[in-house]
Amino acid sequence: MDNNKRPDSMERITTPELADKFIAEQVAAVREQVGDKKVLLALSGGVDSSVVAALLIKAIGKQLVCVHVNHGLMRKGESEQVIEVFQNQLDANLIYIDATDRFLDLLAGVEEPEKKRKIIGGEFIKVFDEEARKLEGISFLAQGTIYPDILESDGVKAHHNVGGLPEDMQFELVEPVKLLYKDEVRVVGKALGLPASMVDRQPFPGPGLGVRCLGAITRDRLNALREADAILREEFDKSGLNTKVWQYFIAVPDLKSVGVKDSKRYEGWPAIIRAVNTTDAMSATIEEIPYDILHKITDRITAEVNGINRVLYDLTPKPVGTIEWE
Ligand code: XMP
Repeated sequence: MDNNKRPDSMERITTPELADKFIAEQVAAVREQVGDKKVLLALSGGVDSSVVAALLIKAIGKQLVCVHVNHGLMRKGESEQVIEVFQNQLDANLIYIDATDRFLDLLAGVEEPEKKRKIIGGEFIKVFDEEARKLEGISFLAQGTIYPDILESDGVKAHHNVGGLPEDMQFELVEPVKLLYKDEVRVVGKALGLPASMVDRQPFPGPGLGVRCLGAITRDRLNALREADAILREEFDKSGLNTKVWQYFIAVPDLKSVGVKDSKRYEGWPAIIRAVNTTDAMSATIEEIPYDILHKITDRITAEVNGINRVLYDLTPKPVGTIEWE
């Protein structure tokens, strides 16, 4: 049996009852697989890895060691929030590693999207490998792989969390939500008692802002992207769009146009807004954002973010456009 294939008989998880049943099955399966060994989890703070963390805490408690790697490609305030929620509130075993310089130095000058993903994914594996060696007795690596990752991993995109593991990888994988679609992961997260603010959080790709800082990443453009993205999120929160839109973010291309600021020529990058609705990320539609909100976001980003002189709204559904730009 191909255990990376969702059986036709598997019911879509839409209710707390179905989620509880799934959780009970997975808790038993994880206990059986892991025994009394330790499991290392790449905790990015996104929905998938957070739900896996909660599921594994339920199944094996302190045998789970969560590692949060700040690859320098996190959104504004995100690493801080991971520490607050998992270390301070959920009392998880959490190790925080700031590897910003390591990742950004490796990525310097690299333009090709798949190469960037491979570098980020490869470096992730290295960091975990190093951490595992320090920790002693780690036998398993848990991952928040979900079903669309598996479906789309055959050459479409080199997702860092599917495939690409080095030959000599000494970990066996624990992937309890790998047959679930995103909406099911959220239902399971709620049933596990995770706060709504975490479960309803929009998905965030493993390579983070690395796939939104288009082309070769520079620290100044990455910083502009992070600040613009924080403003977009703030304005969506204020207007209630955060509860209506599935995923929204800024992408910043490696392209400058001429502008004018304080009566002087002002060259800058455009910030591109992406705001899409979907249930499973396989296809997506565009949210109609009221013009007054678009104007407010544009005013704030162009006034507050160094290096940005234009704001654009991407109206392309998936297909033809993917959700991410890279
Ligand atoms: P696309 O761009 O393929 O994205 O339409 C579909 C969904 O997947 C997310 N995404 C990723 N998630 N690693 C991840 O864990 C990745 O490399 C990656 N690339 C895209 C994307 O944000 C969207 O939700």
